[in-house]
Amino acid sequence: MTDTRPLALITGASAGIGYELARQFAEHGYDLVVNAEDERLESAARGLRETGARVRPVRADLRTREGVERLLAAVEGLTVDVAALNAGVGRGGAFVDTDPADDQAVIDLNVTATVRLAKPLLRAMVARGAGRIAFTSSVAAMMPGPFQSVYNASKSFVQSFAEALGEEVRGTGVTITSFMPGVTETDFFRRAGMADDTRMGTSRKDDPAQVAEQAFTAIVKGERKAVTGSLKAKAMGAAGKVLPDGVKAAAHRKLAEPGTGEDAGPGSGA
Ligand SMILES: NC(=O)c1ccc[n+]([C@@H]2O[C@H](COP(=O)([O-])OP(=O)(O)OC[C@H]3O[C@@H](n4cnc5c(N)ncnc54)[C@H](OP(=O)(O)O)[C@@H]3O)[C@@H](O)[C@H]2O)c1
Repeated sequence: MTDTRPLALITGASAGIGYELARQFAEHGYDLVVNAEDERLESAARGLRETGARVRPVRADLRTREGVERLLAAVEGLTVDVAALNAGVGRGGAFVDTDPADDQAVIDLNVTATVRLAKPLLRAMVARGAGRIAFTSSVAAMMPGPFQSVYNASKSFVQSFAEALGEEVRGTGVTITSFMPGVTETDFFRRAGMADDTRMGTSRKDDPAQVAEQAFTAIVKGERKAVTGSLKAKAMGAAGKVLPDGVKAAAHRKLAEPGTGEDAGPGSGA
């Protein structure tokens, strides 16, 4: 970390949207503290260093309090200019069938870790009157999510939380951005057990690099929220604002219910 380059902290940066977002910041002159749980974070950090950025990888399981504390300890004493709280997982399937431990893991990472990290990072930013926090929300935040119910609820939490914080810090010099990708080509659906057997998992998906590029622009502009990705994702975001919840729930069922994968068509959002 240098005195001259700004610093971005990005969680879930070993792959997918988080890796591409880290690359955006690195290519725009930021040094990075990047987090993920698994060892592939080290190779991701090597790739990011090719941009010329200084990159510090911090492996930590953010589902745990200890993991959150380890990551916060790694940035103690540093000025974090941007914190992108991006790490997240899903779990597909009927709620009556999913393992309670998997439901809890979604909540622990997507909700609990996000709140635990946001408070000290935001406190420091508000105290110095500068900084940006970004949350990876989803178009899923805008709709009930049958067969992905805990995940969509977790993203509704993130979206509401981000928008509330955005208003709280208005005028402090700190900005909060929540960005909402649609269905994006990452490991997400495989990890969620939805890759092969759901229409959402088998549909054509957005490029995570495009999502990250648009998210980067929204974050540096300090926009409160942005639907990121293809025109399809933006259309989903527009529809999400106006359709009744019951209609959105029925549509989501057609995309996320196991067994819908064979007649793959355009997806909605994860
Ligand atoms: N893909 C989509 O369609 C889509 C759409 C809208 C929103 N999103 C959101 O985008 C964000 C990134 O997801 P993605 O699609 O890029 O999926 P991804 O490729 O699976 O990336 C997830 C990242 O989170 C990390 N992670 C997972 N569990 C973790 C833990 N316990 N502690 C720390 N890091 C952990 C992963 O690292 P490890 O491998 O080390 O676990 C990885 O770096 C998530 O919040 C997701 O909800 C995705």
